[in-house]
Amino acid sequence: MKEAYTKTLIVLAIVLTFTSLVIEAIELADVANICENETLILNLNEYAKFDGNSIASSTLRCIVIRSNYVNIEEGSFENVPNLKYLDLRRNRISKMNLFSFGDISHLKVLNLGHQDNQPNYYYNSEEAIIISNMYPELEYLDLSYISISNIRVEGDLLENLFPNLTYLNLSGNKISSPLSLTLPPTLKHFDLSNNGISQFSFEKLNNLLSLRLDHNEINALDHRHVDLKPLQNLANLSITNNQIKYISNSIENLLNLRYLNLSYNSLSDFDFKMIKDLYLLEVLALDGNSIDAVSTSVSSNITTLSLNNNRIISITTDSFCNLKNLRRLFLSRNKIWIIHVNSFQNQTLLEELYLDDNDLSHLPPYWYQHTKKLRYLNLSGNKFTSLEPVLYDSNFPVTRLYFERNPIMYINGSVMTPEITIFLNIKPIV
Ligand SMILES: *[C@@H]1O[C@H](CO)[C@@H](O)[C@H](O)[C@H]1NC(C)=O
Ligand SMILES: *[C@@H]1O[C@H](CO)[C@@H](O)[C@H](O)[C@H]1NC(C)=O
Ligand SMILES: *[C@@H]1O[C@H](CO)[C@@H](O)[C@H](O)[C@H]1NC(C)=O
Ligand SMILES: *[C@@H]1O[C@H](CO)[C@@H](O)[C@H](O)[C@H]1NC(C)=O
Ligand SMILES: *[C@@H]1O[C@H](CO)[C@@H](O)[C@H](O)[C@H]1NC(C)=O
Ligand SMILES: *[C@@H]1O[C@H](CO)[C@@H](O)[C@H](O)[C@H]1NC(C)=O
Ligand SMILES: *[C@@H]1O[C@H](CO)[C@@H](O)[C@H](O)[C@H]1NC(C)=O
Ligand SMILES: *[C@@H]1O[C@H](CO)[C@@H](O)[C@H](O)[C@H]1NC(C)=O
Ligand SMILES: *[C@@H]1O[C@H](CO)[C@@H](O)[C@H](O)[C@H]1NC(C)=O
Repeated sequence: MKEAYTKTLIVLAIVLTFTSLVIEAIELADVANICENETLILNLNEYAKFDGNSIASSTLRCIVIRSNYVNIEEGSFENVPNLKYLDLRRNRISKMNLFSFGDISHLKVLNLGHQDNQPNYYYNSEEAIIISNMYPELEYLDLSYISISNIRVEGDLLENLFPNLTYLNLSGNKISSPLSLTLPPTLKHFDLSNNGISQFSFEKLNNLLSLRLDHNEINALDHRHVDLKPLQNLANLSITNNQIKYISNSIENLLNLRYLNLSYNSLSDFDFKMIKDLYLLEVLALDGNSIDAVSTSVSSNITTLSLNNNRIISITTDSFCNLKNLRRLFLSRNKIWIIHVNSFQNQTLLEELYLDDNDLSHLPPYWYQHTKKLRYLNLSGNKFTSLEPVLYDSNFPVTRLYFERNPIMYINGSVMTPEITIFLNIKPIV
């Protein structure tokens, strides 16, 4: 079986200017130009085996191999001394052979994701990969969707195997607890989405800029479960689709945070005091939780607040009074039936307001007198019977009003301003 490969099946293609392949998700200084001039792309239909004699080039920097099954022996790229970019995605390489090529000293980008492993009946070994070489210049490592639960380092190699790594993608695996591999403190972008994590440590990752933990099994953000405190430089944090009920002493100190998405968790409340020192925070998303009341007790500079799909029933003067920078406010698919006078008093910068699919039949008189920049209003799917309890006079600032799926009885044209477009899409009332 092993010798069944034939070199004639190898289709060679030298592709010029193939940069889009390199930069898929993240921009890396200097990496964008690596494959600028030539990339060797091998599309192999059948089993192929590589060794040190398979590819030889002193100038080649980028290699992409796609096959149905490939065996890459140690030293396969030893005659490609300038190899910087290696993409072996979608080759069905087994876990134990993922790093079988061994040492590649100048490699900067290594993409091993999506191996679509068949279950290995013979080696029912633990689902870990073992790495035994150091990759001193590696900056980008994609190990997504390869069914691993852990990464081990062979023998007593104690030093950091990836001293230059800035991007690590481990999404779509079976990781449930901290890895045996010590995570390199150089990491800037870390994706751990779609695993089974309930506990994890981010100790020493104080250079991290973005972290994704979507679709895991996290119940709480605290020092016992997932401790985010060390992440002093974090700018983007997404922990959606978990089961977080409880947040304690965890996000308060992420002083560089700009984007926080905690959507689709089990929060019944969000204490805005947690973000009071996060001066740079711009976007806070809390969709799909069980929040039934909002009150912002402290000031925040956030510009986008998203509370879609919660259980909010009323908006009061306390709800947003301390959010003076809000430009976009999402309150779709709640149970809001009352909005108190002065609720938007301090939203002088608000541009977009989403109140679709609630239980509103009226808005308070002249509710828009302070929101002079409001241009977009979505009131679709509510209980309005006419436009009057929305548009009280000709100072109504909105230019696009979405008003579909309301039980409208009549439209009084004299309340409309010439600038406004109203989207009604009325179905005849029977
Ligand atoms: C990680 O890999 C997955 C699947 O390949 C991809 O969808 C995701 O965007 C990557 N994450 C980042 C941060 O690039
Ligand atoms: C690509 O080729 C151009 C012109 O030959 C050269 O100036 C440039 O340095 C080359 N880029 C790389 C990354 O080798
Ligand atoms: C990181 O990579 C650079 C070259 O890009 C190299 O000079 C440096 O030695 C590497 N750092 C370590 C710790 O190996
Ligand atoms: C954070 O996310 C925003 C929006 O997706 C993106 O523009 C920005 O580059 C990200 N920043 C970092 C440090 O990843
Ligand atoms: C937050 O994450 C959810 C789930 O991934 C996504 O649908 C939503 O667009 C995100 N919200 C923002 C404001 O980025
Ligand atoms: C809002 O931003 C300004 C600077 O842009 C800063 O001085 C102020 O402290 C911030 N306020 C809050 C509550 O984050
Ligand atoms: C608006 O902000 C001011 C402080 O600038 C505050 O005194 C007032 O209570 C806020 N309005 C509402 C409705 O809370
Ligand atoms: C307004 O909200 C409705 C209901 O959620 C939605 O179907 C529609 O796409 C929204 N309109 C726009 C332009 O966002
Ligand atoms: C239409 O609105 C104007 C101004 O608010 C009002 O004077 C008039 O009575 C309304 N007409 C009907 C039929 O409700």
